[in-house]
Amino acid sequence: MSKNIVLCGFMGSGKTTVGRLLAKRLLAGFIDLDEAIEQQEERSIPTIFAEEGEDYFRSLEHAVLGKALRGELPAGLLTPRAFTVLAAGGGTFMREDNVALLREDGAIVIYLSTDFGVCYERIRESNRPIVMRSTREELHALYEKRHKIYADICTTQMYNHASPNAVVENIISVISPFSIQKL
Ligand code: S3P
Repeated sequence: MSKNIVLCGFMGSGKTTVGRLLAKRLLAGFIDLDEAIEQQEERSIPTIFAEEGEDYFRSLEHAVLGKALRGELPAGLLTPRAFTVLAAGGGTFMREDNVALLREDGAIVIYLSTDFGVCYERIRESNRPIVMRSTREELHALYEKRHKIYADICTTQMYNHASPNAVVENIISVISPFSIQKL
């Protein structure tokens, strides 16, 4: 039985913030996929994109996702039975082999769905490579395209329109039946 809860959603949707809080509330471990990649590589994601290109980054992302789902990365677990909350990158599940890893694992997948305008305000000044190379219109088109994929792969879609704590409580109320079954 999988003990993974995976948060997916567009850049700036709040996956890391909500994921950390959710993990704290569930006494679960927490892994941010982007951070895990940066720690493994000892360089930032913009540097990896600049020095190696996006394909290399996507291969790393695939490998690290597999390790995270299999429990091979440190997640600060309090007990071996605890859940691990995993915040994915916005592009992680655009690759079918990453969706396949999710399916094999049986993780609970929460799509954190946040309005494009909110995401855009959070990411526009950031150094995320995809943001740096795209116009607002291009990002909006990417958001629409990805929305369909997140909605398709998720166990449940959670509209992120409230405070992070309120969103966490909503997630817990939705996932309780799944998690009780899996304990
Ligand atoms: C990406 C999203 C980023 C990071 C990388 C690529 C994407 O993660 O993985 O810059 O393709 O959407 P966040 O969604 O955490 O910003």
